[in-house]
Amino acid sequence: MPDPAQIDPVHFDADFLNDPVCAYARLREAGPVHRANSPDGASIWLVTRYAEVKAGLGDPRLSLDKANSSGGYHGLSLPPALDRNLLNLDAPEHTRLRRLLGRAFTPRRVEALRPEVARIADELAAALPAEADLVAGYAVPLPIRVICALLGVDPADVTDFRAWTDAVLMPTDPDAAREAMRSLYGYLASLIAAKRAAPGDDLLSVVAPELTDDELLSAAFLLLLAGYENVVYTLGNGLVELLARPSLCASLVASPSLLASTVDEILRHASPLQLAIRRFPVEDVVIGDVEIPAGDTVMLAVASAHRDPSAFASPDTFDANRGENPHVAFGHGPHFCLGAPLARLELEVGLGTLLRRFPRMSLAGAPRWRSSFRSRGTATLPVILGGRER
Ligand code: HEM
Repeated sequence: MPDPAQIDPVHFDADFLNDPVCAYARLREAGPVHRANSPDGASIWLVTRYAEVKAGLGDPRLSLDKANSSGGYHGLSLPPALDRNLLNLDAPEHTRLRRLLGRAFTPRRVEALRPEVARIADELAAALPAEADLVAGYAVPLPIRVICALLGVDPADVTDFRAWTDAVLMPTDPDAAREAMRSLYGYLASLIAAKRAAPGDDLLSVVAPELTDDELLSAAFLLLLAGYENVVYTLGNGLVELLARPSLCASLVASPSLLASTVDEILRHASPLQLAIRRFPVEDVVIGDVEIPAGDTVMLAVASAHRDPSAFASPDTFDANRGENPHVAFGHGPHFCLGAPLARLELEVGLGTLLRRFPRMSLAGAPRWRSSFRSRGTATLPVILGGRER
């Protein structure tokens, strides 16, 4: 086994972030596990090959609870009342909360949102100017409005919600991020008090009786954040893939049933999420060829796994008709994305609506990318929509 102290750590520098596909290809070839430095300088273990990433996602020895960390990288730091969320918890507490939320987040509830998602998509598409930025005008407002519909948030509050979540998730200024976190917390606390006082038929009202205030607050916070950034980036990245392939766009307009496999291929090939949530081994574990001490931080590179030739034939080729597509864009195991059916609905309806209305849309300039070690997506996507159709 190589001595980890002898291995130079990987840095997520500008070269890495500008071309993560290439950087991960080099790392994957060199080995399944690497030492790396997170942007805040903490030491982490970076897992790059499909087999180890997938096994790690389902491995109960890799805890999501930072109580098991010996002090390395922790990710987003949250006030205690927002910390009791699914992505910070292990069994059995995770199992109990997940079961309760899962009871409310049913396929029926998601399917019931379909007309609302279609209405929001249509409304946003109709308001786009002939030359539009599809990120600002479409990919950003669509998921935030859907999540607000799910949580029973007044549409009038959506603008604030969006500014706060952007400041928290895509921070440019630490003071603004802290201030936004305080506002978000205050808003969610009063939302929850209102749901307890006068329950509706939204998801929060349904689970409220069985959760403590902190659990409910943490759940609302996680659904809002988890349900937002990933969908924005997958819509944007997906549109970049589609706009480069006019014949695929024509096929999707003619046969919308192809959208499902196209969305899976977008999630694999243009995965916005680079890394799963950080994990902490509860005992020393061997991953690939490295023994990782308990308490260290392990990061599973989902986007790298998606380009692993041992799991996908011609992994760098975008193939909307790929038969088997066992991507891990929604994770794997006990923390598998609770919102995956809603995400699929938003992506299929969101992309389908634009293709149907603007079958001749084309890029008006190069998209601008926003890259961090955690995620990569389009920040702007200028297009010329070209004639409108119903
Ligand atoms: C394209 C969009 C999405 C992607 C790529 C995505 C990806 C993921 C991934 C990879 C995980 C597991 C993380 C890990 O194990 O480290 C996860 C968990 C989760 N996601 Fe999503 N997600 C998306 C959309 C959504 C939406 C729309 C919602 C809800 C409205 C949502 C809610 C959640 C929740 C609650 C969890 C935690 C599940 C648990 O810990 O048991 N996600 N997501």
